[in-house]
Parts: sequence; C-alpha cells; structure tokens
Amino acid sequence: MKVTVVGAGAVGATVADNIARKELCTELVLLDIKEGLAEGKAQDMMQTAALLGFDTRITGSTNDYSKTAGSHVVVITSGIPRKPGMTREELIGTNAGIVKNVCDNILKNSPDAIIIVISNPMDTMTYLALSSTGLSKNRIIGMGGALDSSRFKYQLSRGLNCNPSDLNAIVIGGHGDTTMIPLIRFATWNSVPVTKFLTAEQQQQIVNDTMVGGATLTKLIGTSAWYAPGASGAALVEAIVRDEKKLFSCCVSLNGEYGQKDICLGVPVIIGKNGWEKIVDFGLSADEQAAFNKSADAVRNMNNVLKSL
Ligand code: 2OP
Repeated sequence: MKVTVVGAGAVGATVADNIARKELCTELVLLDIKEGLAEGKAQDMMQTAALLGFDTRITGSTNDYSKTAGSHVVVITSGIPRKPGMTREELIGTNAGIVKNVCDNILKNSPDAIIIVISNPMDTMTYLALSSTGLSKNRIIGMGGALDSSRFKYQLSRGLNCNPSDLNAIVIGGHGDTTMIPLIRFATWNSVPVTKFLTAEQQQQIVNDTMVGGATLTKLIGTSAWYAPGASGAALVEAIVRDEKKLFSCCVSLNGEYGQKDICLGVPVIIGKNGWEKIVDFGLSADEQAAFNKSADAVRNMNNVLKSL
C-alpha cells in the first residue's frame, strides 16, 4: 500500500506522522514545492522509526511527482494557510490554482488514487478537485467535517466534563466559521442525548465554540492549526486502507441527497476501500435542513468565484 501527502507544511507533515505511527502503508511519500522541505521532514520522521517501532518507509520529494506513482490514497494539503483574522474563503484565489495543478500531476502518476482534500476553502477545493479531474465522485473526499466533528466532541467533553471518546457527535454543512452545523440534537454521551445534561445556554455556547474552533486556534497560534487537521486526514486514510466502513462527516458531491445538487458539502458518509461509499440520511428537522440549505448557498457562492478566476 502506498500513500502520498502533498504539502510538507505543518498539516501535511502531521498527516504523514500519524500515518507512519499507525503503519497505515508500507510506502509513504511526502511532496512539497519548497526545495528540501519534504526530504528533510521525511528524514526527521524516519529518525523516529527506531524509537516508535514503525515499519512505514517515508521518503520526501521536491515536486517530483514520478516518486508518487502508484499511490492508492493521496492527501492534498497544499496551499497557503490562514493568518489571524482571515476566513478560509479568502484563500481561494491562491489555493485554487495550486490544488488544480496538484490534482493534474497526481492523476498522471496515480490514475486510480482516492483523493482526500484538506486545502482551504475545503468545500470549494473539493468541488474543484472533482470538476477539474472528472473522477468518479466516490474518489474525492473533503476532510472538514471529520475535523469539525472531533472539535465538537472536544467542546462537548468540556461542557460535560467527560472523556471525548465516550461521545458521539457530528458536524455537517460547510467547513467555514458560519457554514458548519454542529448537530447537537443527535449528539450522545454513551448513547444518552447530551441535551439531557446541558442547559440551552450551554448547548448554544458549545455550538458557537465549535464553529469558531479553527479561527480560535489561528488567533492563538498565529497560523492555521495542524494537530487535529493532521489526525483527521490520517483517520480518513486509515478508514480507506483498512476498509473500515466507518461513518464520518465528509465533504462529498451531492446529487439530490440532503436536498442539494451540484455541490460538495459535509454530510454523514461511510468510508471504506472505495473512498466514500454511501451517504447516510440522518433525517434533518425543518430547522436543520434550513441551516443546511443556507450553508449550501454560501458554499455555492464561493464555488461561483472559481469561474471568475
Ligand atoms: C482548520 O480548521 C486547517 O481548516 C483547518 O484548522
């Protein structure tokens, strides 16, 4: 099994680090346009192999896509990250050209790869990856909802003073500060609805804190976060290479599901060896569906910007 991570910045390197520690593949290629960066980070990670005891062989490449040939899964993290005060959407002009170029180069060398998109604005970059490559829709997966759902569980664990792993919770919609929809009605603590333990004010605070999860970290750190985005990317790789059939919220192409078409947006999906294999209908309430439609409108506006670039 071979996996490529494009972009050796903080997010890409963290995806690679998590993949290696979990031994999700035998061969892992880290690629970046910056001379020596991917080679250096790959070597640094390989120097942890004897300490951590993993067998994955990591190599780095400066923009030589022939090294990525035959990859089963490719994770795209390339592009500029956001600075404090910036929205993910402000990155579109720069990142669209980068993501399109990466997709073209990847598919020349790995025509059968499943592609996971992390670059921002993630919903629009996923849509771009799908429309520019013409790949079958199940092979293009945007990572945002997996990350936002993990952040939602973290915020819930603080509100409930419990272990995040005991929680089940999902965020659907766009991967934007105002477009994501933490579905608190469906969240449970070991199968008991969390709404039983939290006041309406507490619930609203948790939802609000989840929605600005990425922006809060960008303000604290001075750039975009990487530990949770990296772990989320690796969790999706794991679900594919181990054919886990796990349910994640991911940004996928909708063709009437959840009332939307011609858009990539976060919904519950089953992830396995074929990429995203099935969309699961949670049965939204009228209010939740209205929020989802509003999120779709905002993402669609952003997708329209692609046409003017
Ligand atoms: C975040 O939310 C990188 O979009 C990513 O942190």
